[in-house]
Amino acid sequence: MPSVVSLQGVSAYYPTSSDSFFVQSGWTRILEDISFQLSAGEILSIVGESGSGKSTLGKSIVGLVPKISGTFAFRSKTYNPLDMDHLREHIQIIFQDPYSSMNPMMTVSETLEEVIRLYPKTEELNTRMSRLLDRANIPKDALTKYPHELSGGQRQRVCIARSLAVEPEVLICDEIVSALDVSVQAKILNLLKDLAEQKSIAILFTTHDLHVVESFADNVLVMTKGKIAESGSVEDIFQNPANDYTKSLLEAVPGKNHAKESEILMPSSSS
Ligand SMILES: Nc1ncnc2c1ncn2[C@@H]1O[C@H](COP(=O)(O)OP(=O)(O)OP(=O)(O)O)[C@@H](O)[C@H]1O
Ligand SMILES: [Mg+2]
Repeated sequence: MPSVVSLQGVSAYYPTSSDSFFVQSGWTRILEDISFQLSAGEILSIVGESGSGKSTLGKSIVGLVPKISGTFAFRSKTYNPLDMDHLREHIQIIFQDPYSSMNPMMTVSETLEEVIRLYPKTEELNTRMSRLLDRANIPKDALTKYPHELSGGQRQRVCIARSLAVEPEVLICDEIVSALDVSVQAKILNLLKDLAEQKSIAILFTTHDLHVVESFADNVLVMTKGKIAESGSVEDIFQNPANDYTKSLLEAVPGKNHAKESEILMPSSSS
């Protein structure tokens, strides 16, 4: 399958923090020599310890990192993420905290309407609106509600619906279910899986939860210290990790390889 997004030899930098707010002493490299491809309908999970550069990777693709180098391509055509307004409707990003990315003064219907109007299509607003609600599984009675009146899971659905309003081909999801409880997580993951399968949307999914990766992603990219430690299909990497860092990551998963040990350590906690 042809790639929708590809990165070749990408590095990303943030300004080095300095003692003085006014003097910038240089750039710190956060990502180094990142290369991978993402295909239509693929769910690619990015995992790695905190600070390994997962969020920076997602942000660099949509130009939210101030300095980057290397080659970015969308549908085999190179683009500059720092000048990609023409690609906004193709590549969308969603973050962990939906509350901070919503306007507290706007109802759900105003939030969605704003984006629908920004990206006009031939279909009527109402048709697009009800399809979005349907797709993201948002009840109609939520339309008149403000962000503070919604649950965390509902807010994240609205953010997903808002991203889908532009009919993107790529959805970058940065820890979007991490703050939600497990049953709400499962529903949102199912929704994303449907979008990948039925709409062929390519999904880049950043998480620190390897259980989620195992049940949900097709392929996985393991990051450590701003570099790719290894990558491949979830099955291969989980069954046969080649890299020491990946092995330690997998061994640290609660309830996986250590189930017996924890039973021995905590005999009374049967719940
Ligand atoms: N806006 C920023 N300015 C300067 N440095 C930053 C900025 N954002 C992130 N960094 C640094 O970049 C490195 C990678 O951060 P990033 O947020 O990409 O990690 P992460 O893998 O997403 O971590 P987590 O699992 O905690 O979300 C860290 O050392 C972090 O301190
Ligand atoms: Mg992060």
